[in-house]
Amino acid sequence: MPLPADAIKPWKAIVAMADKNRAIGLNGGLPWRLPEDLAFFKQMTTGHTVVMGRKTMDEIKKPLPRRLNVVLTNQQDLVAPGFTIAHTLADLDEVAVKGDLFIIGGAQLFAVTLPQCCELFLTHVKGDYDGDTFLPPFEHLFSAVETLRENDDLRIVRYRNKALPA
Ligand SMILES: NC(=O)c1ccc[n+]([C@@H]2O[C@H](COP(=O)([O-])OP(=O)(O)OC[C@H]3O[C@@H](n4cnc5c(N)ncnc54)[C@H](OP(=O)(O)O)[C@@H]3O)[C@@H](O)[C@H]2O)c1
Repeated sequence: MPLPADAIKPWKAIVAMADKNRAIGLNGGLPWRLPEDLAFFKQMTTGHTVVMGRKTMDEIKKPLPRRLNVVLTNQQDLVAPGFTIAHTLADLDEVAVKGDLFIIGGAQLFAVTLPQCCELFLTHVKGDYDGDTFLPPFEHLFSAVETLRENDDLRIVRYRNKALPA
């Protein structure tokens, strides 16, 4: 269910998904290697705050440079040098955010945050890729606003939360 407009946070989600099966992950990593998507992700998030689930942190291993890196975990004793640790979504309100706050995944984190995100930057990946982690439904929450980039491999679309006033 879409939330009321006053429940929407100034959070932006950014993710790449295979259109054919909604895959976003495989064996703890990405199912593909798409340099143009990585360049878009870097351009969008550098100088800002990135919030990720603990499993995505395990994958990237080190904090992403020139960004404030926040990890969500239920583990009270997690040691994560270079990361700001949050244990609940409410904790995100206490973080001294640098620039915009981007939710960068994975699927578990998207499942709980997408309804509250004001924008979604979604890379639609066109090829066939196996996956074991899938993007939760977002279509009932967001409307497409504009296509930002497109080539043979991908189409990057900016979406806006439907709960926001026009
Ligand atoms: N295609 C893309 O754009 C993209 C982007 C990001 C990730 N991925 C892929 O997605 C996969 C990982 O996704 P995933 O869904 O398995 O894991 P995830 O969302 O990255 O991490 C899940 C973990 O985050 C913590 N967490 C999540 N929500 C929480 C909450 N509300 N409160 C407290 N802690 C919370 C928990 O950590 P604890 O277990 O420590 O409590 C949970 O086990 C990987 O394959 C990765 O490569 C793809």
